[in-house]
Amino acid sequence: MAGDEFILGSAVVRDFVDGVRETIATAASPGAAIDEIRPRFAELLADDGWLPAEFQEPAPESGMGGGIGQWLLYRAGDGSLSLFSLVVPSGAETPVHDHLAWGLVGLYRGTQDEEIFERDGDGLRMSRRRAIVRGDFYALLPPRDDIHRVRTTSPETSVSIHLLTNDTGCIWRHAFDPDSGAERPFRSGYVNVDCEQP
Ligand SMILES: [Fe+2]
Repeated sequence: MAGDEFILGSAVVRDFVDGVRETIATAASPGAAIDEIRPRFAELLADDGWLPAEFQEPAPESGMGGGIGQWLLYRAGDGSLSLFSLVVPSGAETPVHDHLAWGLVGLYRGTQDEEIFERDGDGLRMSRRRAIVRGDFYALLPPRDDIHRVRTTSPETSVSIHLLTNDTGCIWRHAFDPDSGAERPFRSGYVNVDCEQP
């Protein structure tokens, strides 16, 4: 598609993205697409060789705060798909945030705790907490499981791989105060590309 950006244009990434796009084009629903993508996503998480070190680096000045680096690997020209790594230093955590699109998120390095929130009247309620290790992954299918926070529990930096059906770093979404439930506009950006198109 015109305007597609492969920041990491290796054969592994291109094959993965091509397969995902084909699946999305033919699947009956997002849920069906997720199920079809699962095995290929698991393979990507299990493969040690495809993600260069530069995409596994934290970012001191990041839009996420806490030195969290969000590195774009690929995005579709029409904003319908993105693949990126999220690098969270040891002990750091993301704000509570949403994604506003369906997709898959999985852990590539380190360990994390994830807390999932649900809207509860005007506020938020934490509904689940789980520990995530290398190779674990989960689906986001908004509104289900769309609001969460992750924290790195390993002494090493954690790296998670995100495949989402929007340009997640550049859209305006929401960050939340977990106590009051108050939301604010939130755009995380990417470390390595701008959101404004020339
Ligand atoms: Fe997230």
